[in-house]
This record gives sequence, C-alpha cells and structure tokens, in this order.
Amino acid sequence: MKNILITGGAGFIGSHVIRLFVTKYPEYKIVNLDKLTYAGNLANLKDIEGEANYRFVKADICDFEKICEVLKEHAIDGIIHLAAESHVDRSIKDPFTFAKTNVLGTLSLLQAARMYWESQPEGYEGKRFYHISTDEVYGALQLTNPEGIESPFTTKASSSEHHHAYGTDFFTEETKYTPHSPYSASKAGSDHFVRAFHDTYGMPTIVTNCSNNYGPYQFPEKLIPLFINNIRHRKPLPVYGKGENVRDWLYVVDHARAIDTIFHKGKIADTYNIGGFNEWKNIDIIKVVIKTVDRLLGRKEGEDMDLITYVTDRPGHDARYAIDSRKLKEELGWEPSLQFEEGIEKTVRWYLEHQDWLDNVTSGDYLNYYEKMYSNR
Ligand code: NAD
Ligand code: DAU
Repeated sequence: MKNILITGGAGFIGSHVIRLFVTKYPEYKIVNLDKLTYAGNLANLKDIEGEANYRFVKADICDFEKICEVLKEHAIDGIIHLAAESHVDRSIKDPFTFAKTNVLGTLSLLQAARMYWESQPEGYEGKRFYHISTDEVYGALQLTNPEGIESPFTTKASSSEHHHAYGTDFFTEETKYTPHSPYSASKAGSDHFVRAFHDTYGMPTIVTNCSNNYGPYQFPEKLIPLFINNIRHRKPLPVYGKGENVRDWLYVVDHARAIDTIFHKGKIADTYNIGGFNEWKNIDIIKVVIKTVDRLLGRKEGEDMDLITYVTDRPGHDARYAIDSRKLKEELGWEPSLQFEEGIEKTVRWYLEHQDWLDNVTSGDYLNYYEKMYSNR
C-alpha cells in the first residue's frame, strides 16, 4: 500500500500516528484529512508538515462528495480512521454531534471507500480500512477489589510501583458491547458499521479497541493535561465522584506503534484490543501527577494536594476499564515499550515545557493556525 488516508490526524492520537508514518515510511504518501474542530490543531504537526510525503486536506468526514473526491485524487489504498468526537463529557451535553460525526461520518467514509475501491479493476485487493475504536464500547467492569490485587498480567507499560488490578475480569475481543455514554454508543455504532461493510460487501476491514491514552498533544479537557495545567496555575482539580473509577493507561506513542503493526500485519475482519495492563484509580494517578508537577516546578512535592476538589460525578460514569491485550502480543508480537512512571514523567515535562502550546489551545488562538499556514497554498 502506498497512498494512505489518515483521518483525524490533527488530533491527539492522530498526530502521533501521522508523525510515525511520515517519518518511518518515506515511500508512502500520507494524506491527513481533518475538519479541524476545536480538538484539531495543526501545530501538533509542525515538525513534519514540510515533508515531501505529507499532505493535509481540510474536510469533514460527513461530506460524502468531498471524501469521494479525495480518495480518487490521491488514489487511496489504505485508510486509518481516527476522526471522531472523543470527549465523554461533551457527548453528555451534545449527543447529536457525536452521532453525526462518529456514526454518520464513519458511514460516509465507508461508503466512499466502497464506491472508489469497487470501481477499480483490482477491487478490494491490496486495500484496507482500519477503524480506531475504544474500550468504552465494552461498557464497565465491576470494581470487585477496590483495594487492588496483584494483577495476573504485566507488560513493559505496567507501573513499577503497583501491579494492581481492581477486579478479576478484563475486556477481551469477545466481550459483549454495552456502551453507556452517548460517546461510547456512537463509537459502538461506528464499529458495527465497519464490520457490516466487511460482512456485506467484503471490504477488508480491521477494528481495534484501545484503553486510555496519555502523552503530549492531548487536548486539555481530558484528565491528565487538564490537571497538569490547573496544578501549574494553582486552580482547583475537579475530581468526579469519589475519584475511585479505574482507567487503564497507555502511552500514546505505544498506541501509534500498535496501529502501525496492526495496519501492516493484522488479519482482515479481525479485532484487536490494545492496552498495557496498567490500571489506576483516578485519585491515585492524580496524586502521582500532582507530585510530579510539584517536583518539576521546584515546589515541595505534594504541596498542591489541597487543589483536589471532589465534584458531582459524571452521569453514567463507568467504574472500571481494563483491557486484555494478550491476543495482540501473541499473534502480532506488539508490546508496549514505555514503562508508566517514565511515561508520566515525560508527559508532565512535555506540558510544562510547552506552556505556549497549552496557552494557545486554552486561549483558542490555535484555531487560526490553518488560515495562517494554509490559506495561500
Ligand atoms: P481528539 O479529539 O484529540 O482528535 C479528534 C480529531 O478528529 C481532531 O483533529 C478533529 O478535528 C477531528 N475531527 C472531528 N470531527 C471530524 C469530522 N467530522 N471530520 C474530520 N475530522 C474530524 O481525539 P483522540 O483522543 O486523538 O482520539 C482519536 C481516535 O481514537 C478517536 O476515534 C477516539 O474514539 C479513539 N480513541 C481515543 C482514546 C483516547 O484515550 N484518547 C482511546 C481509545 C480510542
Ligand atoms: O478508554 C478510552 C477513552 O478514554 C477514549 O475512548 C476517550 O476518547 C478518552 O477521552 C478517554 O475517556 P475517559 O472518559 O476515560 O477520559 P477522561 O480524561 O475524560 O477521564 C478520565 C477519568 O477521569 C474518568 O474516570 C473521568 C475522570 N475525570 C475526568 C475529568 C476530565 C475527573 O475526575 N475529572 C475531570 O475533570
């Protein structure tokens, strides 16, 4: 495959995937298609935007005619689909936008790919539609062991401080879909459409479901970057409920590496879970973030603990996510590469050293970047 369309490449995970593909595969043409919503920021790609094998197209995945044009113009053979509305709290306030982008947008992309590929003499031969999804479609696991037990599995991403699991069950590729939020319901809907296009039309599709990502370039509405920024400015840290919900954290570059492996070696029509067996209670990870920020800013370690402010819980807040990613390791040999404490240190350091990026995003200035950089091209 030579010409690859990556949707949502100006977002958090997408920008890491674009960077990896553009630098690792100079022989591929990488087309980044992004609508540049509030979450899309071309400054995330400043270091690679001048590369010969990179193109940017500003477009909405819901714009079917435009997608048809782009696929044809760039003779796209492979699609890695990340574009989505991704924040659970926003989905609670505005579910329609999530259904539109995540479900109808994915359908528009699938239908455009189907029409283009079926019009080619070789048909689906050598083509691939890879859809990036989330562990949230599986619903919530029970917090049967709130104090934590020794996890039966560890990876290089697992914390060295604790090998905790907060229950005995994990999401596997066979776990039944039980989404609870409008966000996860819309992602589940899109996953079903992708699989339906394989089963009905024979499109070569793959779906992956990943756990919570952390790392540079994440929009500061999500837990880790929001809290780093608030601690720096000594603003309250709004902890939902009792802070006892559990999430399974993976460094974003490891997710991008998994996407590379699966795009090239994954089995058509298959599903792979991606995660690092690295479960944390929110309140515990928040304490790690506070201590790290304090230390790196030269404050007394832990002096900002009093910023923790318990607030009303997120409606329908899922208790625990924990991914079983053994299939991906056993079948395709992917393993995370970065250990959690190193990853969190690197992440906090990145946000503290890129205050300009955070200020740009929080002030909204980044929204003019496209006009400044691309309007004359
Ligand atoms: P993000 O919100 O940071 O970025 C989303 C990107 O999609 C933005 O650049 C935005 O401009 C673009 N976009 C939104 N609507 C669009 C539209 N209609 N047309 C074209 N582009 C549009 O999201 P993220 O956290 O990087 O997540 C990327 C993907 O990975 C999503 O599909 C998400 O569901 C999935 N995912 C995220 C996580 C996580 O922890 N962040 C974990 C697992 C899966
Ligand atoms: O599991 C994968 C999912 O992870 C992705 O599919 C989503 O796109 C991504 O946003 C993320 O969803 P979460 O809801 O888990 O992420 P968020 O950062 O919003 O919240 C993480 C946890 O922290 C969650 O239990 C809610 C809690 N939280 C979050 C915020 C923003 C707080 O307690 N306070 C907050 O202010």
